Amino acid sequence: MSNAPASDGAVRIVEVGARDGLQNEKQTIPASAKIALIDRLSATGLRSIEATSFVSPRWIPQLADAAEVFSGIHKAAGVSYPVLVPNEHGYARARAVGATEIAVFAAASEAFSQRNINASISESMARIAPVIRQAKADGVRVRGYVSTVLGCPYQGAVAVADVVRVAAQLHALGCYEISLGDTIGAGTPIQARTMLAAVAEAVPMAALAVHFHDTRGQALANILACLEHGVRVIDASVAGTGGCPYAKGASGNVATEDVLYMLHGMGISTGVDLDALAATGRWLSALLGRENGSKVGRALAGSSNGEAA
Ligand code: HMG
Ligand code: MG
Repeated sequence: MSNAPASDGAVRIVEVGARDGLQNEKQTIPASAKIALIDRLSATGLRSIEATSFVSPRWIPQLADAAEVFSGIHKAAGVSYPVLVPNEHGYARARAVGATEIAVFAAASEAFSQRNINASISESMARIAPVIRQAKADGVRVRGYVSTVLGCPYQGAVAVADVVRVAAQLHALGCYEISLGDTIGAGTPIQARTMLAAVAEAVPMAALAVHFHDTRGQALANILACLEHGVRVIDASVAGTGGCPYAKGASGNVATEDVLYMLHGMGISTGVDLDALAATGRWLSALLGRENGSKVGRALAGSSNGEAA
């Protein structure tokens, strides 16, 4: 298998727990707790931590405190803190508090695009384009997401060609990396690899990331299939928190702890301290008052490795 990961092949984890993880929470989480979460994550060796999103607070009230959270976190050297931005208004809010990396998002499914951002796919591209242009002029890095790459809660199947088209558009507009999102955790490994392979025909593999929700327990298997095909950037969420309020049935992201355990066990370095990350996952689960969504986090809690929380 020519694309099999080398034993020292470094993988970058993009930690999305503070944004994807908390955007769907029913309970109110104080900004101080979000800041504490991100500061803990910053001490684990992660290099990319998505901090919050500057979307409409009417649509995502859980992250209405984005400016307070972003201003309050300690920005560790060598760590980037991208924030989600849907439009120029969101970009201005993010820049006002000093964001230097943003993430824009579009969908491969028309139905999901309408439900999530009240726009068609082409309208969303027209909305995003000036944001990316301005960001590039300001020296702000832009990551792009494509949602519903392996299925849509409203339209069902999503054509791979639609995923390729949207990913290629985001890349052409100037996103340095495109994260392919299985928003509702519908995909299985061969589908995931086939979709990735098709996108990689249009966008260089080095500019691709995968973003799996674990709704049906397929996320790690899908990640392995994509790793074997050459992807080296993986989005994950501490303690497996997450979901999108506009994706009915979406559950948490794959747990960062579980991804780290798999990668490190395969001899693939990430630079992230699993014990420190798992301790943060237990701390967050206690804060949210729910069972830890990471199996590895639960297993470590019962071993001598996992007493650091
Ligand atoms: P809209 O209602 O069509 O927007 O929403 P609008 O432009 O007509 O504005 C309506 C009001 O919102 C106005 O206020 C604007 O000023 C305000 P009013 O004049 O009525 O008082 N507004 C804003 N306020 C603050 N910040 C802003 C902003 N923009 C407008 N940025 C919009 C369109 C895109 C804004 C809305 O649909 C929205 O914010 N949607 C976000 C939904 C969302 O965040 N979903 C979850 C993230 S995506 C995801 O989770 C998937 C991912 O994880 C990958 C995967 O898993 O697939 C990334
Ligand atoms: Mg997501």
